[in-house]
Amino acid sequence: MKNIKSYVQENKQRFLDELIELLKIPSISADSAYKQDTINTADAVAKSLKEAGCDVVEICETEGYPIIYAHKIIDKDLPTVLVYGHYDVQPPDPLNLWTSPPFEPVIKTTDLHPEGAIFARGACDDKGQMYMHVKAMEFMTKNNTLPCNVKFMIEGEEEVGSVNLGKFVKQNQDKLSNDVILISDTGMIAQDTPSITTGLRGLSYVEVEVTGPNRDLHSGLYGGAVANPINVLTKMIASLHDDNNHITIPGFYDNVEELSLDERAQMAKAPFSLDKYKAALDIDAVYGEEGYTTNERNSIRPTLDVNGIWGGYTGEGAKTVIASQAFAKISMRLVPNQDWENITDLFKNHFESIAPKGVKVKVTPHHGGQGYVTPIDSVGYQAASKAYQETFGKTPIPQRSGGSIPIVSLFEQELKSKTILMGFGLDSDAIHSPNEHFGVWNYLKGIETIPYFYKYFTEMHK
Ligand code: BES
Ligand code: MN
Ligand code: MN
Repeated sequence: MKNIKSYVQENKQRFLDELIELLKIPSISADSAYKQDTINTADAVAKSLKEAGCDVVEICETEGYPIIYAHKIIDKDLPTVLVYGHYDVQPPDPLNLWTSPPFEPVIKTTDLHPEGAIFARGACDDKGQMYMHVKAMEFMTKNNTLPCNVKFMIEGEEEVGSVNLGKFVKQNQDKLSNDVILISDTGMIAQDTPSITTGLRGLSYVEVEVTGPNRDLHSGLYGGAVANPINVLTKMIASLHDDNNHITIPGFYDNVEELSLDERAQMAKAPFSLDKYKAALDIDAVYGEEGYTTNERNSIRPTLDVNGIWGGYTGEGAKTVIASQAFAKISMRLVPNQDWENITDLFKNHFESIAPKGVKVKVTPHHGGQGYVTPIDSVGYQAASKAYQETFGKTPIPQRSGGSIPIVSLFEQELKSKTILMGFGLDSDAIHSPNEHFGVWNYLKGIETIPYFYKYFTEMHK
């Protein structure tokens, strides 16, 4: 595959221009105001897969946004790689914190990306990383180096829980049959430290509502005499962690997979600087569960975090009021063996049980999914490892990530195949935050590395 490097160099500008066009379409799946844009993005992805040499490209309608399915089957006796990605993006707010508009992509240099990075919502998560696969496909079909069968499944609802994709997978097991699933929707340790993600956390996402008096009240006339829903909610939330930052929900840790000291020692070998970590976030100390390191806290341990909290008066100036209601959105990141539906039930029962008299509490589950871990001795992992060795000159480090892609465990359950997570973004690329970006170097390196995965996977697959 000598010419992949030169192919990338020759087509670099076009690869960037095409991605920039895709990034201009605001495919915000969470916000119905962007419905037409999201549908247009699906069409653009379908078109790009056709141009990249897929023989069949289908826009599969669902109750939500369409799923793009495409394939090129060259020989039924050869293995099949299924590529998954998502074309939807997170909402860009708060808009005022962006240094350039989220859907007007620009290339700017940063300390970590001296060769430039594309700034736009979705640049890294996941349009940029998904498009690397489209361009790698283009290279393989144009240069007659495609060694196996390829299927693509690109969805538009990952950021809102992949509900319709779950149904689609269950109903289309034959269509989606494969020997390995390949995803670029995670990160790597650093530019000079490639890594392969071997674990994802599960997720349970709930919304809670505390209702006190039947109307907002004057905080002088009634304050101190009735339960204030905001006071109550914050106290209830505070009680969900103890002084060691352990979660207090009974049964929460029952099924948590405990890593051996040896496994934890292996993990600790991954390069990591606590000082750089703190400096990058402008914090003077890290915070978290007693007895675990930062990298353990954010990957192998479960967590509970408030993602948003509201109620009462938040406008300009002061208004003396006791709100009738208070609300919060809470996410729990889960680790292998914790079942998200069970954890959701435990949360609901516990949260309702700790409500003081004088308020009503309602817990509404949103979405969730199971965690995932994958061994490093599989053919898929080994093929990915060799691919990185080829293009980075280094053996990638296996690393469990703190993020979630709930559909991955469903893939394993329904399609009986392992997923290989070859992520090329950096944690500092600000996914889900203002000023999301994706290094030009990373984008091109991804395109260069992916064809080697196909080559080695096909060679090593018995
Ligand atoms: N691509 C991310 C997940 C991710 C990012 C995993 C970096 C590992 C490293 C994905 O798009 C995402 O944001 N997932 C959500 C869950 C989903 C159900 C909304 C998440 O992790 O919050
Ligand atoms: Mn993603
Ligand atoms: Mn995301």
